[in-house]
Amino acid sequence: MTRNALVVGVVGAFVASGLVALSTPASAGTTLGASAAEQGRYFGTAVAANRLGEAGYVNTLNAEFNSVTPENEMKWDQVEASQGSFNFANADRITSHAQSRGMRIRGHTLVWHSQLPGWVSGLGAAQLRSAMNNHITTVMRHWQGRIHSWDVVNEAFQDGGSGARRSSPFQNQLGNGFIEEAFRTARAADPTAKLCYNDYNTDGQNAKSNAVFAMVQDFRNRGVPIDCVGFQSHFNAASPVPGDYRQNLQRFANLGVDVQITELDIEGSGTSQANNYRTVVEACLAVSRCTGITVWGVTDKYSWRASGTPLLFDGNYAKKAAYTSTLNALNGGGGGGGGGGGGGGAGTCTVSYSETMRWPDRFNGQVTVRAGSTAITGWTTTVTVRSPQRVSATWNGSPTWDASGNVMTMRPNGNGNLAAGASTSFGFTVMANGNFSAPTLGACTVG
Ligand code: XIL
Repeated sequence: MTRNALVVGVVGAFVASGLVALSTPASAGTTLGASAAEQGRYFGTAVAANRLGEAGYVNTLNAEFNSVTPENEMKWDQVEASQGSFNFANADRITSHAQSRGMRIRGHTLVWHSQLPGWVSGLGAAQLRSAMNNHITTVMRHWQGRIHSWDVVNEAFQDGGSGARRSSPFQNQLGNGFIEEAFRTARAADPTAKLCYNDYNTDGQNAKSNAVFAMVQDFRNRGVPIDCVGFQSHFNAASPVPGDYRQNLQRFANLGVDVQITELDIEGSGTSQANNYRTVVEACLAVSRCTGITVWGVTDKYSWRASGTPLLFDGNYAKKAAYTSTLNALNGGGGGGGGGGGGGGAGTCTVSYSETMRWPDRFNGQVTVRAGSTAITGWTTTVTVRSPQRVSATWNGSPTWDASGNVMTMRPNGNGNLAAGASTSFGFTVMANGNFSAPTLGACTVG
């Protein structure tokens, strides 16, 4: 979609719902929202109502993002803490702010086992069914026509290999059919909203995502209303960005639903965090039905990962390396990190370097090799160390050396096949001999 078409579409939606305020996107290519809009996508963030009074927070939100998700304010325990008594005030602060700035709004979430008030768990099946449908209908009608996508059901599947449904009052009282019923009720409540199923640990192909896939496929086959699948994408060392992330998004998109990255955060810092963000953004851009990305917070200091730094802005709202790699990826360039691209008609690749360990006498280096927008079947790059440094060991690659012993040419060792946007890495130990400066990378060439 072109930028103009996107803006026209947004104007149309707001006029149709009687709202007039709309900002034009900031200049393209310089902010996350504007760059995403150039690609026909949105770039959003989770927002907390009680931070909207903080200048740094709100200025960053306004400058960079064109979609918001209330982080907690639309959850059941916030809007219907006691049965039949609805309180939308905190969520309204966010939706008003967003609308006055022309930002889109994701609704999160209607039916979820967590942040659920105790009274819901005490209901029998018939009462629960009517409470669930009343909750969906009342909440969706409150913002009717103003929410681009709703997470109708969140996290209904168990982790682990079983592919089973998670225990919850809804599952236990109503059985598997509660999800279908929630989606049908949601469609009737606000036919203008896209209806999403949202979950975590479904980002790659595994038993859990297979079970969600089977459900979405079944819904599509039987005409149960579902428009999108949200991939939370909370990543850390124990749960890294999966190697088949893009393929997994694509297989869901092939079912005829949009896919959205809904709660992205990636633990870490520096180059490796930046590379992970780039991988995620490139995966979304490679899937035409991946319509937008939401990060789960504006700044590290308010992340739900209390001790981590998983977001794009640090505690002082300074842009991190991950911000730059995200923006560059949205602008369509690999950018950053090290050596440049290369190769001819058979694709491109880029390389980036990071030091992963250091001892008094030596250090370990790691080079990440990443394919561009098409798959590649081989790659070559060089690593030049500075005399008197010497490479004493390598792994995950096949090295050859020049006569000086300073220039190592590295080729794959079983890791030459990379899907579009996918990466691999090789490593080496450098005996420093007193010199700890980083080696220099040559360009990455395909083949
Ligand atoms: C988290 C919020 O970020 C926290 O502030 C809150 O205490 C707990 O919930 N999956 C979801 C989100 O769908 O709603 C969760 O948000 C994070 C995991």
